Amino acid sequence: MTQAAVRYSTIAIVLHWLIALALAFELALGFAMPKESSGFALWQLHKSVGVAILLLTLARIGWRVFNRPPEAVEASLMGRLARTAHGAFYAFMLLAPLTGWAMVSTSSTRIPTVLFGIVRFPDLPLPASWSEPLGDTHEILAWIGLALIALHVAGVVRHDLLLRHGSLGRMAPGGRPALGVLLGFAVLCVGVGTYGIVARRPSENAGVRPEPVSAPVPEATPARVEPVPVAVEPTQPAQALPEWSIRPGGRLSFSVANGAEAISGSFARWGGTIRFDPDSPERADIRIEIDLASASVGDATQDQMLAGDEYFAVAAHPRAVMRIAAARKTGSGSYSAHGTLQLKGASLPQALEFRLTGTGPRRHVEGRAAIARMPFAIGTGETGGNLGPAVQVRFSFDADMQTADRKLRPD
Ligand code: HEM
Ligand code: HEM
Repeated sequence: MTQAAVRYSTIAIVLHWLIALALAFELALGFAMPKESSGFALWQLHKSVGVAILLLTLARIGWRVFNRPPEAVEASLMGRLARTAHGAFYAFMLLAPLTGWAMVSTSSTRIPTVLFGIVRFPDLPLPASWSEPLGDTHEILAWIGLALIALHVAGVVRHDLLLRHGSLGRMAPGGRPALGVLLGFAVLCVGVGTYGIVARRPSENAGVRPEPVSAPVPEATPARVEPVPVAVEPTQPAQALPEWSIRPGGRLSFSVANGAEAISGSFARWGGTIRFDPDSPERADIRIEIDLASASVGDATQDQMLAGDEYFAVAAHPRAVMRIAAARKTGSGSYSAHGTLQLKGASLPQALEFRLTGTGPRRHVEGRAAIARMPFAIGTGETGGNLGPAVQVRFSFDADMQTADRKLRPD
């Protein structure tokens, strides 16, 4: 016997190679993607392709039920072995995505699965305690899948090169074995290429993780205003406060613990008016406005979540405003201030610290605040379950002293 008389149907052939290519990509991506939240976009891609494989496999099994495949090339023990291996393949193609889906449904991070950035995929109602065994199973299944592929390809080589049964022609477009060889090679290239590219690529969040979260930060003061001693000297009040303009190029960043990791980002658009005399901090008059839609953690899907109702609810509350009416000197060039932060419809007392360096008409400002996010209802939904209670905010910018009547320009 040379070429087997009956071939797989065109639909079965298309699905076989489509799934084989997707699986090569999926396995390589799974092994190479970073195992931390900095690989967020790659995780979303992995989840999307995994769900696509699940759907294609269901379609393939459905098709197979109504369109019987050709008889096995060998009827002997080897034929039964090949059938068993094919059965194992179907089990793998179902169980790998199902365990992946179950794993993300039970993860404490509860980052929503958004298929190809478009469709929100639901989570399965499973207990959180299953998360770890599911993760282990998912990984073991991936290794089993790799072994099955190696066995499968070895089987095809045995049939076609050693026994000359011509099985490749049964699964190749137009019955042409050369196309089968080409597609087999393409599967290999996709796997190796994906692994090479993903494993070598730098972390997405490189550059937006400016400060370690463990750095000492002032305590958040969500519900208490500490009165600042306002000891205005009788000779001072009439004197105009120096006005400062914020120079472009400053930075306003934030960072919050997410389990054992951190999510960091920054605001691209913010600005304000600063009236402040370093020698009379008790008469400060500072107002900083932040465009919340400009928040970014370096990932489009997460940024969309930030703008949504569970986080900033940008549509209803586009801006945050920090107002400071008095500060207190805590050391040479160092100040602490208590003001009011207006954010997502709430207006609450907020403490911050800053330090001025430089002299004359230009100062460099560095500061930080720890903002308790719960009173502002930020990240209170299921996706924020693993976030730390305080968001560390840091700012640094240069400011130029203006003549008293010149208007300040936001950054
Ligand atoms: C045929 C489908 C799939 C295959 C072959 C596959 C394969 C893999 C592989 C090889 C890994 C790396 C394992 C490790 O080194 O720890 C992995 C990790 C992962 N997979 Fe899948 N996967 C599939 C489908 C899915 C699906 C559908 C989801 C979710 C909806 C998913 C979610 C994940 C997640 C979140 C990780 C990272 C787990 C961690 O390291 O903590 N996978 N997958
Ligand atoms: C990488 C993932 C792959 C998976 C999951 C996979 C899966 C399968 C399955 C389940 C079957 C049995 C079809 C049925 O009877 O319903 C099959 C058949 C076949 N596969 Fe693959 N395959 C993969 C890759 C490959 C590669 C790389 C080659 C070529 C080198 C190949 C060549 C074949 C051939 C020739 C058959 C037909 C065998 C026969 O004559 O019955 N497959 N494959």
